Amino acid sequence: ADQNHIRTFSIIAHVDHGKTTLSDRLLEVTKTISARQSREQLLDGMDLEREKGITIKAKAVRMEYVAQDGQRYQLNLIDTPGHVDFGYEVSRALAACEGALLVVDAAQGIEAQTLANVYLAVEHDLTIIPVVNKIDLPGAHPEEVAGEVESVIGIPAEEVIMASAKEGIGIPEILEAIVQRIPPPRGQRNQPARALIFDSHYDAYKGVIAYVRVVDGAFPTGAVVRFIGTGASASTLELGVFRPGMTPLNELVAGEVGYIATGLKTVEECQVGDTITLVDNPAESPLPGYRPAKPMVFAGLYPVDSNAYPELREALEKLKMNDAALSFQPESSNALGFGFRCGFLGLLHMEIVRERLEREYNLDLLITAPSVEYQVLLTDGEIITVDNPSDMPDLSKLGSIEEPVVQISIISPTRYIGTIMDLVTTKRGTFETMDYLDPTRVQLKYKMPLAEIVIDFYDQLKSRTQGYASLDYHLAGYQEADLVKLDILVNQQPVDALSLIVHRDFAYNQGRTLVERLRKLIPRQMFEVPIQAAIGAKIIARETVRAMRKDVLAKCYGGDITRKRKLLEKQKEGKKRMKMVGNVEIPQEAFMAILSLN
Ligand code: GTP
Repeated sequence: ADQNHIRTFSIIAHVDHGKTTLSDRLLEVTKTISARQSREQLLDGMDLEREKGITIKAKAVRMEYVAQDGQRYQLNLIDTPGHVDFGYEVSRALAACEGALLVVDAAQGIEAQTLANVYLAVEHDLTIIPVVNKIDLPGAHPEEVAGEVESVIGIPAEEVIMASAKEGIGIPEILEAIVQRIPPPRGQRNQPARALIFDSHYDAYKGVIAYVRVVDGAFPTGAVVRFIGTGASASTLELGVFRPGMTPLNELVAGEVGYIATGLKTVEECQVGDTITLVDNPAESPLPGYRPAKPMVFAGLYPVDSNAYPELREALEKLKMNDAALSFQPESSNALGFGFRCGFLGLLHMEIVRERLEREYNLDLLITAPSVEYQVLLTDGEIITVDNPSDMPDLSKLGSIEEPVVQISIISPTRYIGTIMDLVTTKRGTFETMDYLDPTRVQLKYKMPLAEIVIDFYDQLKSRTQGYASLDYHLAGYQEADLVKLDILVNQQPVDALSLIVHRDFAYNQGRTLVERLRKLIPRQMFEVPIQAAIGAKIIARETVRAMRKDVLAKCYGGDITRKRKLLEKQKEGKKRMKMVGNVEIPQEAFMAILSLN
């Protein structure tokens, strides 16, 4: 199509406000899919994604739409991931668009992610079309929410489209607004070719598939392309558009959105945010904004059965082909044996990787408590990064430690301000600003160590506010802090996988709570097991797991044979997630105990 007849947009929304349902409707009304075809089969390709009810990967679909002006338009819908872990992917997806539908739930109003996404859209100069969705709900107050859009975001309430994606109300108006309000792409077709990668996936037959927005020039099929950021090159085995299935074409030209199949073996060479150009007649400069994927949260992954180590390596290698943000390297622990230190974008990403390893690769895993990456200045002037608490150098060699901090934004009904302030303070947060969205709701901003967010902040926020508060955060640099390593000794042996980094002021309390929890989690043995928390050589807390009583043992030995077998089987089940550390069995929960220290 000529550029004047192309419109490219995303849908931005807070989780559950109806993004998926609305995209379904748009695909149906434009006959891109039939009403019968469920979008689940088409767009939400990953099982896990469907089960968790969240959109993990950005996707793209081309629709055709004949507008009221009688002209035929090419509409490209680029789907954005809905979770804060995938913020960079969201920003690249938006960079590929000229406009965005901003969906706000008519019963809930604006939430933290709504605003975070709006800021991103404004940063990318997108035309925003506000849509108040779910007006069919009995609890809907669409006029008020439209007012909120005007007062908080600054878009006049008259521009708001009232809709119900579920009932199909407002869909024609939305399509017309897309054509009339969003500008066409402005790229140069006679310039050297440049395309922005906003997503990618690995395909067993066609290699890595790059999802691209062509900005300038044209990409013919078969051409040899180069990735400016990573320096890799590849031939285009196939290119085309998603309609919504992959549909091959002869070329993709400036303004169009589609895919390029590269034959590459891993997405690492074809990263989101990178620019693709042609090897003959290459563009001189890349498109702005490329940043290699960078993990923020780290944890050790160990096979429960140490023989499964090679399988774990193989599975991680396979996952990595499709996930540039996942990093891993071998590590060994005196407690857990051989495993991998893995880096993730955030806790959700970690959870997804763990579940896929267990489900798709049938592995039983032990995972250690997540940690962030510290910058450590040693007394000899060297600076090292530490992403595993047990690697923290001795106090004698430590100069200072810097930790990553994030800026968090919380939107909540005003009645919870007190309890939120209280929670944030216990998490070492510092207050920045408070703004009223309306008389009953505020946006609070704080600076907080990332390490504190990683450890059950979100769950506590939700439970203290009965689920009403919403959260968004982004990295805001590094800050020096008075941190110490807290070691845990089980039966006099330090267990490296249980070490953690804590603030000195909180160390004593956290040490106490942790050994109390561990006492409850570690099963009784034939002998007494002391559990201690220590900073350097100094023991700061101690609990004891009492030895098993004789009569408990007796039960296991006497008695009839079936009962005994049942008991043994039960024990075997229970053992699944246990590791022998020295002569003590430690269950998985113990390694995660710090996640619920409060
Ligand atoms: P994520 O993919 O998790 O970001 O959620 P989403 O924003 O895509 O929301 P989704 O479309 O999955 O909708 C969330 C819930 O709201 C689902 O149960 C939908 O059926 C429901 N829903 C969506 N639109 C409407 C609507 O217009 N009216 C009503 N009553 N329910 C709706």
